[in-house]
Amino acid sequence: MSTRSSGHRLVIVSNRLPVVASRSAGAWHLKRGSGGLVTALAPVLRDRGGLWIGWPGVATLPDGELRRALQRAGRDTGYDLVPVFLDEREMRLYYQGFANEILWPLFHDLQSRCRFQSAAWQVYARVNARFAAGIRAQLRADDFVWVHDYHLLQVAAHLRQAGARQRLAFFLHVPFPPLDIYLKLPRRHQILADLLAYDLLGFQVARDLRNFVQCVRSLFRDEARIDRQGNRTTITFRERETQIGAFPISIDYADFAAGAAEAGVARRARFIREQFPGQQILLGVDRLDYTKGLPEKLRALRETLQRWPDLQGRLTLVQIVVPSRDDIRAYAELRKDLHRLIGEINGEFTRPGWVPVHYLYRHLDRSELLAYYRAADIMLVTPLKDGMNLVAKEYAVANHDQHGVLVLSEFAGAVSQLHRWVFAVNPHDAENVAEAIHAAWHLGAEDRRGRMAALQRSIRRQDVFWWVNAFLQAALHRGLDDFPVLEEYVPPPASAWSELEAEV
Ligand code: ADP
Ligand code: F6P
Repeated sequence: MSTRSSGHRLVIVSNRLPVVASRSAGAWHLKRGSGGLVTALAPVLRDRGGLWIGWPGVATLPDGELRRALQRAGRDTGYDLVPVFLDEREMRLYYQGFANEILWPLFHDLQSRCRFQSAAWQVYARVNARFAAGIRAQLRADDFVWVHDYHLLQVAAHLRQAGARQRLAFFLHVPFPPLDIYLKLPRRHQILADLLAYDLLGFQVARDLRNFVQCVRSLFRDEARIDRQGNRTTITFRERETQIGAFPISIDYADFAAGAAEAGVARRARFIREQFPGQQILLGVDRLDYTKGLPEKLRALRETLQRWPDLQGRLTLVQIVVPSRDDIRAYAELRKDLHRLIGEINGEFTRPGWVPVHYLYRHLDRSELLAYYRAADIMLVTPLKDGMNLVAKEYAVANHDQHGVLVLSEFAGAVSQLHRWVFAVNPHDAENVAEAIHAAWHLGAEDRRGRMAALQRSIRRQDVFWWVNAFLQAALHRGLDDFPVLEEYVPPPASAWSELEAEV
């Protein structure tokens, strides 16, 4: 089933368009944006066509020339791009302020990083209303409107107020926090009520769904009715029914697998491996974000090298970091901390012919990134908390020769689908991560191949098109009954790979 064949045009709405605009030499230039949301949704719209409404990534007043540049870009991508413009103040208070200094840290359980300020709320609400007006200006009766992520929690409420009757759906890419953390959010009742103006709310994994249901139950004890039947959960609130579900997002498997198999990528991967003779390559690929656990990962590496000195000179961490949100103070500070820590570790362990941490701080083009995935022996994906984490899935699919091992945080959504074939770790516990690195280093070729093949099969079965079909099926036909029940990840009583380590 596609939105086209079901007679609906797909309208995706997210804070960012999949392109970032910049101006130089009197003209607008567009480049592809990074981040999980764009990676997941771009192939969906390429496949189905439709419309993408969002911010073009630069503070500017409404600009006809930029609008036309986006129209031209839309002709190439096969779907239309419609901008919502934000000025400097809106960027500061809506995007940096309420979205990224309140909702982002809070939804990742890091309340001590929140910077609560009431002006941010007013602007957040106003920008959500602007997005709703931007949607209304484009809306056709048969449209299926699908809004994405924490920047736009209130869009449906504004559209309903303006009389929209279309089916409206929402997907949250980040985690939904537990009740005692959610309670710290200013306007917590209003935001929850506004979310319930959507017809379908999609979360990444069972953990987020559980948290959301608990918040509704506690904050709207007398007003909300919650019905659960198998996979189907329906909340009735102020005479409206909202269906909720967990839909783990994924990647375009075929595209990543084919890209990694290309001869050019194989050549590059070989070249990378040749730079590290006699060593296993540990790889990290993260946005510069305090939720990604970067300092914690480096401390775990230090722990590994101290505890097992025989591994010195026999492994190297290649840490690739893509710059992100650098106008926010916490991000600029994180960058400094990271640089200092890398300097300390390299200062302590480097010797002739071996540097323990290679650090790249930039956006990589696709074949370069695939070559690193293909070359790496051990991938370290250790966020403190993450909605899904697509890097983990990209690595598994692009590890063409199946020689790699994935070390994955227990707090990344991806663990609930992949835990059987990875080393699941607690990223706060440097000893635990170091033990996983040590065990992964010693894992034999056959075990590696078996695990990697199973990871690839699982991601191929549940790729991004499976995700979008499941979501649309639920949104347009209320069909969740065929959808597999997603079990919540529970850590094993004693870590399975510690036992495995004892055997090596
Ligand atoms: P988030 O959505 O928080 O950024 P994800 O892991 O879900 O986290 O997605 C990150 C996306 O950004 C992935 O598609 C990954 O390939 C891409 N990415 C990360 N680092 C880089 C980089 N240095 N160059 C290019 N793309 C990158
Ligand atoms: O998944 C979380 C998210 O906010 C996405 O919406 C976005 O793709 C990514 O992180 C990058 O963040 P930003 O749009 O703030 O650069």
